[in-house]
Amino acid sequence: MLLLGIESSCDETAAALVTGDRKNLSNIVLSQNAAHAPYGGVVPEIAARSHIEHMDAVVQHAFTEAGRSFSDIDAVAATIGPGLIGGVIVGAMTGKAIASALKKPFIAVNHLEGHALTARLTHAVEFPYLLLLVSGGHCQILAVEGVGKYTKLGGTLDDALGEAFDKTAKLLGLGFPGGPQVEFHAKEGHPLRFSFPLPLKGREGCDFSFSGLKTAVRLAVRELGALTRQDIADICASFQYCVSLILKDRMQHAFRVFSYKHQARTLVVAGGVAANHYLRHALEEIAGEHGFTLVAPPMKLCTDNAAMIAWAGVERLRLGLTNSLDTEPRARWPLTEVEVS
Ligand code: KG4
Ligand code: ZN
Repeated sequence: MLLLGIESSCDETAAALVTGDRKNLSNIVLSQNAAHAPYGGVVPEIAARSHIEHMDAVVQHAFTEAGRSFSDIDAVAATIGPGLIGGVIVGAMTGKAIASALKKPFIAVNHLEGHALTARLTHAVEFPYLLLLVSGGHCQILAVEGVGKYTKLGGTLDDALGEAFDKTAKLLGLGFPGGPQVEFHAKEGHPLRFSFPLPLKGREGCDFSFSGLKTAVRLAVRELGALTRQDIADICASFQYCVSLILKDRMQHAFRVFSYKHQARTLVVAGGVAANHYLRHALEEIAGEHGFTLVAPPMKLCTDNAAMIAWAGVERLRLGLTNSLDTEPRARWPLTEVEVS
């Protein structure tokens, strides 16, 4: 089984070829970071135009790198939401056009389902597992019980974790996207110099809140005035340290809730923030303390890519879950509302 995956829901134009036996033959990701950097965030119209401009070449590149041709594929999977709707439409239309021309099945993939199932491509993780999904737009803890079977245990009450990283970086005058910048500067910093708040710490449940942390960073920046390189490093290190404490605190509740219902002891971390080494290490520690094993996909499969979309397509095609060509793109589409029929 060979699937073409297409992703364009945010600021990466991506295409990939993945086989049914978990081989990632190509994984092309064209980042638009440089185009959005001057604005300190993704500008939807710029993103959509860039997807239109580059999508065809990216798809062609995916075939060339894999050494395969269009006629070799069994189906096309494309992200049809959630995301910035202009970009989503570009990928969805491209996928439908290819599927239609080749007379092959089309699979409409939820972007979050792509992140959620990646660990099955990279590590063949069995259902069920506990999932911490942390990206630029989403921050939630879910029990993954099967394809399309997701139970939400908690989510953010305000900002997503990636958003908190991006906003912190912006306050410090660092580049975009902020996550990798904060992680880089934190390496030189002192994590205990600033004691930022730990929202919801000790509270029951698996929800998150990061807006208080962001406000505390803003106040610290204002108080310091002109920032030295060391100030920036110390704020990044203190921020990241607090995030690790928040994640550990919230995950303790999640391990308990998940264990009421399931025997399995696997924690999967997915989404762009899962690329952060420091946080992976913190999660590994807390998982170990609760008898769980952490599975984290390689960094290039944590941030947005099309291999995860192709793989979600493989999982769906195996179950006979295909979609008609009039399936509409969706800006908003919670993972718990993904169809399995
Ligand atoms: O999953 P993703 O590529 O796109 C969305 O679906 O949102 O996640 C992007 C987010 C951004 O907020 C980015 O700053 C964050 O992931 N991110 C990181 C790191 N790499 C990317 N956050 C913390 N540390 C990193 N190393
Ligand atoms: Zn994503």
